[in-house]
Amino acid sequence: MADSPTIMVFDSGLGGLTVLREVVAARPDAHFVYVADDAFFPYGHHGEDEIIARVVPLMGELIAAHDPDLVVIACNTASTLVMTHLRAAYSVPFVGTVPAIKPACAQSKTKRVSVLGTKGTVKREYTKALIRDFAQGCEVTLVGSPELASLAEAALSGNAISDDDILTELKPCFVGDPTDTRARTDTVVLACTHYPLLLERFAKLAPWPVDWIDPAPAIARRVSDLLGPRVSEIVQSGAEMIFTSRRAHTLGPALTPFFGGRVPA
Ligand code: DGL
Repeated sequence: MADSPTIMVFDSGLGGLTVLREVVAARPDAHFVYVADDAFFPYGHHGEDEIIARVVPLMGELIAAHDPDLVVIACNTASTLVMTHLRAAYSVPFVGTVPAIKPACAQSKTKRVSVLGTKGTVKREYTKALIRDFAQGCEVTLVGSPELASLAEAALSGNAISDDDILTELKPCFVGDPTDTRARTDTVVLACTHYPLLLERFAKLAPWPVDWIDPAPAIARRVSDLLGPRVSEIVQSGAEMIFTSRRAHTLGPALTPFFGGRVPA
């Protein structure tokens, strides 16, 4: 791959930016195309068949239009369903984002882990299989949040989000005796790429301190390994941002940090 590689990062909305920023840091030589399928947001409110029927043909159009060297599905709600369909349909390499249950359970000392995702992600057979295979003796609590992804989008767009609204969705993650550090949740998996956008608020509102597991750095390492060595003479390549609703993006200064300072076209 002599030219700057093109990496496409796909999500239902702006949550995939939390994966993008790690991939951008790992691969400054790449050209980035970020796609927010906001016309179909939130994925967490759609049925499994609907998501497959939406994402698989849309990905074909995006691949034809942008010719990426690699695609990151930066969405747990989609990745827990569509990866085998995408790999069967298209030859470009895909990297998915799925709940980081294995590392979370490996590091939990109290053996109480919560998985915070969309209602869709926590219902998936894929997620249940991860728990069967990798719980390593932990009690895993699945917490399906109906609204957090939308709250995160609103916060990134500069709207005020109340502590109460966040805490209502967060609270079920905290299980066990609050006064006993050895018998309460100590690890929470951020199983939706939107949630790291609210991480500071989560940490402030949490009833007690926990470790929050964000898989984005591991995804960035995987992307970099698959692409091979960096194109050394390229210091920084460009970026594009696409909304499937075709709305113009008005989030300029809020977005550029996720693109490593690039101004997305
Ligand atoms: N960002 C997506 C995820 O990681 C989901 C948000 C949505 O419901 O569309 O699951």
